Amino acid sequence: MARRRQIYEGKAKVIFEGPEPGTLVQYFKDDATAFNNQKRGTITGKGVLNNRISEYLMTRIGEIGVPTHFVRRLNMREQLIKEVEIIPIEVVVRNVAAGSLSKRLGIEEGQSLPRSIIEYYYKSDELGDPMVGEEHITAFGWAAPQELDEMVAMSLRVNDFLSGLFFGVGIRLIDFKIEYGRHYTNEDMRIVLADEISPDSCRLWDLHTNEKMDKDRFRRDMGNVAEAYQEVARRLGILPESGPTDIKGPKVMQ
Ligand code: TMP
Repeated sequence: MARRRQIYEGKAKVIFEGPEPGTLVQYFKDDATAFNNQKRGTITGKGVLNNRISEYLMTRIGEIGVPTHFVRRLNMREQLIKEVEIIPIEVVVRNVAAGSLSKRLGIEEGQSLPRSIIEYYYKSDELGDPMVGEEHITAFGWAAPQELDEMVAMSLRVNDFLSGLFFGVGIRLIDFKIEYGRHYTNEDMRIVLADEISPDSCRLWDLHTNEKMDKDRFRRDMGNVAEAYQEVARRLGILPESGPTDIKGPKVMQ
């Protein structure tokens, strides 16, 4: 088989040229980094789990009418996606105080926020993804005001939907990060959800015990990282429980 052309290599994923024009292949690695590459490691099996989890969540989100870049999963570690122009902004939606918000504002982790809060970070490894405001985004032309409005509306919809979806399987969606891209078709341009949604990019706590089921286990050296990701997949009903043919739907928790 001819070697595919690699388009881009990120910290946790590689993007290859797709089988037809306008498509790309997104490959999920086991590599993990934190604190802008200062901490590095490998979480065995993470790529396989994130490929599955992101496939599942993007598909469900697509079903409620939010456009995404996801086309289909190709194999254990790869998915076919639409080629988009990535908007260089990380959109973070928070429901409960944690992580950098807790640190910056001195709010105890776990405190529910009075309402969902949206933050923006400018995607730049050199600068360490600095937090920015709407003014910077529109003044520097990273996104047009109308595009930003659309990203906010979509992010709030995704937050409400994912909060409910995770709640149904006994998980609290504390916060998450999403990215958007511009998808061009003929003369048309549409903002679509891109990148991935996985325990790498979300904070997920067990509803009853508050146990962390996400990348904070890696960031904070808590151990059992892959096991936690696997448990998220299992609860979503996308892990074979006793063999590859035994894939159940979501396990509804009380
Ligand atoms: P933070 O509290 O560290 O700002 O993270 C907020 C959310 O965004 C959390 O769910 C983890 C996610 N995130 C990423 O996906 N990538 C990143 O580079 C950072 C800093 C956070």
